[in-house]
Amino acid sequence: MSTNRAVNFTGVDFQNPFLLSSAPPTESESNILRAFEAGWGGVVTKTIGLHPVTNVVGAKAKFMRTTPEDSYVSMKKRPGAALHSSWNWELISDKTLDWWLPRIRRIKEAFPDRVLIASIMAGSGNDKELKNWQRLARDCQDAGADGLELNFSCPHMDRRDMGSNIGKDEGLCSVVTEAVKEVARVPVWCKLTPATAEIEVEAGACFRGGADAIVSSNTFPSIPVIDPDTLEFEINVDGFVSSGGLGGPAILPLSLAKMAQMSRAFPDRSFSGIGGISDFSQALSYILLGCGTVQVCTAAMLDQAVGPNVIKRLLAGLDAFLERNAARGWTSVEDFRGIRRDRIVAQSEIRRPDAADYHSGYEAIEGYAGAEARP
Ligand SMILES: Cc1cc2nc3c(=O)[nH]c(=O)nc-3n(C[C@H](O)[C@H](O)[C@H](O)COP(=O)(O)O)c2cc1C
Repeated sequence: MSTNRAVNFTGVDFQNPFLLSSAPPTESESNILRAFEAGWGGVVTKTIGLHPVTNVVGAKAKFMRTTPEDSYVSMKKRPGAALHSSWNWELISDKTLDWWLPRIRRIKEAFPDRVLIASIMAGSGNDKELKNWQRLARDCQDAGADGLELNFSCPHMDRRDMGSNIGKDEGLCSVVTEAVKEVARVPVWCKLTPATAEIEVEAGACFRGGADAIVSSNTFPSIPVIDPDTLEFEINVDGFVSSGGLGGPAILPLSLAKMAQMSRAFPDRSFSGIGGISDFSQALSYILLGCGTVQVCTAAMLDQAVGPNVIKRLLAGLDAFLERNAARGWTSVEDFRGIRRDRIVAQSEIRRPDAADYHSGYEAIEGYAGAEARP
């Protein structure tokens, strides 16, 4: 039986389910061309907007590492330290829509069989902002983008009507998605912030607005650690810091939990998983929870900016997994997608030494009447 890396996700054919997420690896034409040469099945462009963008002075992103000897999590470079996470306060692309459009066209001409998704962002406070979403959507799809990813997730916007502030408001999630769907001829994905208690609520709102898929996670809101010697934040400007985003290995289990909340609530819908992926074992967790594609940022940033070795490992891992499981009749991602989604249950449904020991935290009450009394 031959194995097959290809997937169809929201009606789009991908040579493989591995994408570079919207971030520095996809911030330029040369990066995206190099990414496709390296074998990535798709890219999501760095988020494109219409409002003015100026980044902070100095570093926009850094990596935190730790060692088994000291368990100290720090941005300071130390020999033998392993990656813990990335931290960033980088805004969306500082290039204009007019800069992006000819580049999207040229990239699609060079690689017509690879998938380019345009990540876009505008405000949501009034009709003018909804029209901005529609303009971004129209222009990017006219330039050849195969899909649109709506950024409802950027964690460092002061504007109350932008980024993760949209992703925290189910009304705005629906309204913006609906506005984009009015003009979109290509699939629309919504990238949600993980900074909300019940992410399935916002996911449901996006689906009601017509979303074709939900993408999660963007980075988790966080601040850098404080240096014990200088008493300064490890990243700061003039001593000051503001909330930024955590990515990389540290967020893998957190992001999986968010994905499970959504994919269990909407088992028939499409999801793209992001967070802490650097090889196939992590991608597999997302796929087993129901994701049809996965995306990578931090690991690619650390591997020649676009992850040529990361994509090699992901592809080799998928091939080896399909080979190992050939006897089960699995020949493609679709054959095992979502098969562990139903293993997440209420605490009281997990087996105890004695089944009578635990009653969801309530007192044990004898007999039928007792069972009835429990909520
Ligand atoms: C420096 C940096 C810039 C980012 N910029 C964007 C962006 O413009 N739009 C977006 O949707 N996500 C952005 N992200 C989030 C990533 O796409 C991704 O969701 C997140 O880093 C988690 O994936 P990872 O664990 O593989 O890094 C950025 C992340 C980093 C580290």
